[in-house]
Amino acid sequence: MIPVLTIDGPSGVGKGTVARIIAQQQGWHLLDSGAIYRAFALAVDARGVDVADEAALEEIANNLDLEFKTKADSELVSVYLDGKDVSKVLRTEQTGEMASKIASIGVVRAALLKRQQAFEKTPGLVADGRDMGTVVFAEAPFKVFLTASAQERANRRLKQLQNQGSEGIISKILADVVARDERDSSRKHSPLKPAKDALIIDTTELSIDKVITQVSELIKA
Ligand code: DC
Repeated sequence: MIPVLTIDGPSGVGKGTVARIIAQQQGWHLLDSGAIYRAFALAVDARGVDVADEAALEEIANNLDLEFKTKADSELVSVYLDGKDVSKVLRTEQTGEMASKIASIGVVRAALLKRQQAFEKTPGLVADGRDMGTVVFAEAPFKVFLTASAQERANRRLKQLQNQGSEGIISKILADVVARDERDSSRKHSPLKPAKDALIIDTTELSIDKVITQVSELIKA
């Protein structure tokens, strides 16, 4: 059986960073499922498709021309949609919100399921998102659910923006974080929630190193 570690949790909790470090340490593949939903949202937006047109959404999902490339000299993954590098626009709050909205549609989730499951390859996989442990890799042997207070996640997002040379208003970031969590948690299809067998880690007061240690111990055990 291929070892799979799922890392789910709300926006801005640090799933991506933890997933990347553990995947590097283990030499496993990495699935950033949020990037797939974000790229899909960009593709729908670029084609000007009405989100009520489920047949058109399904068609776009089934033919999504998406590629993840890791540069040798960088730890960041570049994302190519229709042959174009969309890495920057992919990470904006606006794209995140579009992705959150479109990800609530059942046919979209069904159409993107196999694409995500195809990442399960030897020697192993770390998959982060909202429903990795509950739906996409429900049989995974290792499951983690990361949480942190909304205020702490907004603070982390602000710091991240500042490190990138951008600015942000904390009250606006906090409102966005809360709205996105509410939408992702209350939707009918694959809502954000911990799998019954997930290790829940509250990272509000934890350094990234401490989180990595706890997750590494789970895999070793
Ligand atoms: O993890 P992220 O911020 O890149 O995800 C963007 C949005 O995509 C998130 O708000 C909800 C949706 N998403 C999802 O519904 N299921 C996933 N497994 C990953 C992301």
